[in-house]
Amino acid sequence: MELQSIKQRFGIIGNSPLLNRAMEVAVQVAPTDLTVLISGESGVGKEVFPKIIHQQSARKHGNYIAVNCGAIPEGTIDSELFGHEKGSFTGAHEARKGYFEVADGGTIFLDEVAELPLSTQVRLLRVLESGEFMKVGSSKVIKTDVRVVAATNVNIPVAIEKGNFRQDLFYRLNTVPIFVPPLRDRKEDIHLLFRKFSADFAETYRMPPLQLSEDAVRILNNYYWPGNIRQLKNVTEQMSIIERTKQIDGNILHRYLPDNEMTDMPVLYKKQEEDHLSEREILYKVLFDMKKDMTELKKIIAGLLEDGDREPTKEQTKALTIKDYGEDLLTDTTDVHEVEITTPEELSDNSDFDSHEVIEESLSLQDKEKEMIKKALEKHRGKRKSAARELGISERTLYRKIKEYSIK
Ligand SMILES: Nc1ncnc2c1ncn2[C@@H]1O[C@H](COP(=O)(O)OP(=O)(O)OP(=O)(O)O)[C@@H](O)[C@H]1O
Ligand SMILES: [Mg+2]
Repeated sequence: MELQSIKQRFGIIGNSPLLNRAMEVAVQVAPTDLTVLISGESGVGKEVFPKIIHQQSARKHGNYIAVNCGAIPEGTIDSELFGHEKGSFTGAHEARKGYFEVADGGTIFLDEVAELPLSTQVRLLRVLESGEFMKVGSSKVIKTDVRVVAATNVNIPVAIEKGNFRQDLFYRLNTVPIFVPPLRDRKEDIHLLFRKFSADFAETYRMPPLQLSEDAVRILNNYYWPGNIRQLKNVTEQMSIIERTKQIDGNILHRYLPDNEMTDMPVLYKKQEEDHLSEREILYKVLFDMKKDMTELKKIIAGLLEDGDREPTKEQTKALTIKDYGEDLLTDTTDVHEVEITTPEELSDNSDFDSHEVIEESLSLQDKEKEMIKKALEKHRGKRKSAARELGISERTLYRKIKEYSIK
């Protein structure tokens, strides 16, 4: 009963056992001061949990501060969290209180906690363990009484292995773990959520709500939903705006769902095992595979040039046919496919062709990365948050790269 009223209060739709379990843990742990780590894929609905925990605790009249650790530049994050003294760095004209001081008696939500720089992780560990911290540029210890709730869609044990996250901090944050399940594991909630979103958009856009045919419901339920509830909400909004008919059948729905995520089709890739691979890592993998293939191609071409007019063998011709690099893994990667392949004929026509030069240039990871960033920014009309999400990197990394590559 209590869960139902909390759901109503916080606008949470769904009744699946896994969601209820996550909410029960939140309600149980709320009155304590224990640190909570909320994990789950992107778009599953993690952001409401710290609010529930704060509201259900004795701290509810204290401050609630939500900090997106991925969006704050590395150079200012310590000062934002812990404050600074006047003159502690160029531009620090005034002393400033940090969130840990402002939230004394309340709750801090550290979203995207895996994005914290290692040096900030050390400071965070200290404040979690002792309730003590120092402002940037000060040696005076300040006491604070803050409850920390953190969230991440990153597989932290993998980040620890890579040296990007401190193990001691992970254990400290993970005192009470809450796992928010992906939408595909909450099938019973999918249609419910769709109805809620289509009713909301109907109201927003002043139109009748969308109705789904039986086959459309089946497709909705069997889809992989890599972007989880956020994606379902977006798809519902797009259809609400674009489709003239309000009767959505399977054919219409298909147009809004990329084919390679259909779970009722042959398994194209083992998504579960790849969850810890970010899109960027997949892209790098694809590029490295391409580079390997290119080296082989170079050898073959060199051999052909040496052999003069001898016809290439069947295997050689086959090797010259460009592969379909991971089209099922990445959306909108047209540039990855556009590697210039020059045939042996073209090669012999062009005497000052330097195969090494061209191949090196078109395969430079930096160039590719720059291109991908530009594309993502264009696609999301300059919205860095969405572009960063699509690229699988943090907003901060995106800012840095935009600066590094001088992208306009
Ligand atoms: N149970 C739910 N009922 C209704 N709306 C929901 C529910 N869960 C999530 N949403 C909506 O889905 C969207 C995504 O949720 P949220 O922003 O909390 O995702 P997240 O888990 O923080 O993802 P990320 O890791 O990418 O930040 C939001 O618009 C949120 O309101
Ligand atoms: Mg979030």
